[in-house]
Amino acid sequence: MSNKLQQKLAEREAQGNLRQLRTTSGLIDFCSNDYLGLARSEELRALIHKYEDKFKHLPMGATGSRLLSGNNTLFEELEATIAQYHHSEAALLFNSGYAANVGLLSALPQRGDTIFYDEAIHASIKDGMRLSFAKSYSFKHNDLEDLRRKLQHATGTAFVVVESVYSMDGDKAPLTDLAQLCHEQSIALIVDEAHAVGLYGPKGEGLTVALGLADKVFAQVITYGKAMGSHGAAVVGSKVLRDYLVNFSRAFIYTTGLPTHALITLQCAYTLLPELDKERQKVKKLSKHLLEQLNEVKGIRCAPEDSVILSVFLENGDVAKLKKLALYLQQNGFDVRPVLSPTVPQGQERLRVIVHAYNLEEEIEGLVQAIAKGT
Ligand SMILES: Cc1ncc(COP(=O)(O)O)c(C=O)c1O
Repeated sequence: MSNKLQQKLAEREAQGNLRQLRTTSGLIDFCSNDYLGLARSEELRALIHKYEDKFKHLPMGATGSRLLSGNNTLFEELEATIAQYHHSEAALLFNSGYAANVGLLSALPQRGDTIFYDEAIHASIKDGMRLSFAKSYSFKHNDLEDLRRKLQHATGTAFVVVESVYSMDGDKAPLTDLAQLCHEQSIALIVDEAHAVGLYGPKGEGLTVALGLADKVFAQVITYGKAMGSHGAAVVGSKVLRDYLVNFSRAFIYTTGLPTHALITLQCAYTLLPELDKERQKVKKLSKHLLEQLNEVKGIRCAPEDSVILSVFLENGDVAKLKKLALYLQQNGFDVRPVLSPTVPQGQERLRVIVHAYNLEEEIEGLVQAIAKGT
């Protein structure tokens, strides 16, 4: 068996795509998903500390599945907060965004149903669909015409699954048009808000709420490892959806609930989130500034507009050079990673640059200079 594994690893290495775990050490952060700086917020840390005392009577761990010993009032209170925050009836916590997507997509669409998903959708949604008995069809990225064509294959209940902001490309789904189409054709729309929560909407509720679409979206997936600076996720939707998932979602049922400190952290993050307008403005201003400057650099192409997730493509598409450029940036103090196949399709390899509210203008300028020099 070990030989087989080694062979697979050797193949990866020969392709130049071997993944390895590394620790991040003091580089300027253009890589993490901590868009608003909540993961490192002293204010959040102090608030958590205060609440920890208040919940001393609860065990530190959930101690079991929430259907057995693992449920408590903190879960229920937090879920009520989440539902209200995202303009919905109910919410159900999962242990991660990965688990939420697997738990939702594997349980909801039934045999005979049909799922239509954007080709750029996250791996966790793909894995969920693989566990479902429904048929699934991809449509071209953000292409409603292609979706309309594919809808001819619909049988049973139809679902459309998109991300409001795409994790790799950083661009937005045409949510208003999608919601209209799904409404007209009685399709259940599922929106993964992982990269929009915290950043969009008057209180960082996400793009669904920002566009006034909460009542047209069947389920929102809200994740907490990104702008919320923590861990875990929630599926937000109707009360009947929540009850259904409690009964049928194996990723919810057959696992230990989140520990108490995670629940306290999330409750505190939700307390601070409405107040982070300055950070929301700043990260958007900085990313605009970065894009404008990168557009002046020769030999690269940068996209999209108006996003804190920027992709930098080499115009000649040379993957070896792209890796060298990433290494050069790291050696010069910038934490920027290349995104390679199979994470993105071959030919779409890029540097993924993420801007944060705590990045400084000098850091942006330094990064642009280093990219220009290293290209
Ligand atoms: C769009 C999207 N959905 C879900 C996830 C999974 O979230 P988590 O990291 O909480 O498991 C990610 C994380 O990479 C993501 O980008």
